[in-house]
Amino acid sequence: MKVIASHNALNAAAKARELLLAGARPLDACVAGVTLVEDDPLEHSVGYGGIPNEDGIVELDAGVMDGKTRRGAGVAALRNVRHPSQVARLLLAQTHRVLLAGEGALQFARANGFVEENLLTDTARRIWLHWKRIRSNIDDWREPPAEDVEADVAAWFASYRSPHAPREGHISRSEMPTIGTVHVAALDDRGDLACCTSTSGHAFKIAGRVGDSPILGAGLFADNEAGTCGSLGHGEANLENLSSFAAVELMREGRSPEESGLAILRRIAARAHPEQKDAQGRPRFNLWLYLLAPDGRHAGVTLWGPKQFALADKQGVRLETCVALFPGPPPTQPENPDC
Ligand code: GLY
Repeated sequence: MKVIASHNALNAAAKARELLLAGARPLDACVAGVTLVEDDPLEHSVGYGGIPNEDGIVELDAGVMDGKTRRGAGVAALRNVRHPSQVARLLLAQTHRVLLAGEGALQFARANGFVEENLLTDTARRIWLHWKRIRSNIDDWREPPAEDVEADVAAWFASYRSPHAPREGHISRSEMPTIGTVHVAALDDRGDLACCTSTSGHAFKIAGRVGDSPILGAGLFADNEAGTCGSLGHGEANLENLSSFAAVELMREGRSPEESGLAILRRIAARAHPEQKDAQGRPRFNLWLYLLAPDGRHAGVTLWGPKQFALADKQGVRLETCVALFPGPPPTQPENPDC
């Protein structure tokens, strides 16, 4: 039995472990763990309290995949429902469909009795308003004096950076903030694998933008015969490279989780678009991959270190260090914005 999860999901890993020890199916254990993170208003990259899109509306993406049946499902750009992972789980259980988006996803959630609520917390609203004030020097908004910026807003802007270079006429001081996400994967003692990824996506994204998290093969993939992979970071890079599927296919060929993850990160780094690269040709965005093999071997890998991931097994729950393609500390922004 083993659980691997993103750095922000230590409690999720513990929950999944507890449920696996009690005999739960891996997919149910993963979703129960992710639910805790979706409920946390202080986790601004997932669920309730997530950073909104550019219009100030929180839109969530989530995906689930069961390695035993190789069936998965996702919901995308879902508004007003804080547990997109549970909605995706029900989509898999109740329908023949794999992906619902926007209004259709909300209707499906509504039909299943999910409570609708405003997901924009006061802190996330003030972060969004601050972004509107600092993002450009050619619009109607005045940038606030530094002493007027509240501590929680300043702390958020200090810790999240964009994979995009500042555009002409736009401020470069703070760069555009971006994303987190949560991923949990589990292996039970029957040898069954599953995983779940959930996110509010890129901060201040265009309304309707869908990232990698609900897309099978991009933000997650699971196959009992080969392993699981899930990801955090710049989702467009995963969408363009189908990273999770590609990594699982390398494990199927016999490569270790670490070799597989690093091979995919090398490919992504090499294929990064010119405007995404620093002066040394390295991607200015970050990506994490979490891999779990059917025999219980695991790896957390990252483009830029140092980073951690959560691990749970029969011994307990702990944080481990990701293997980094470019060991940190990363250059100061904007050379290597994090995401
Ligand atoms: N990886 C999460 C996203 O890009 O939305």
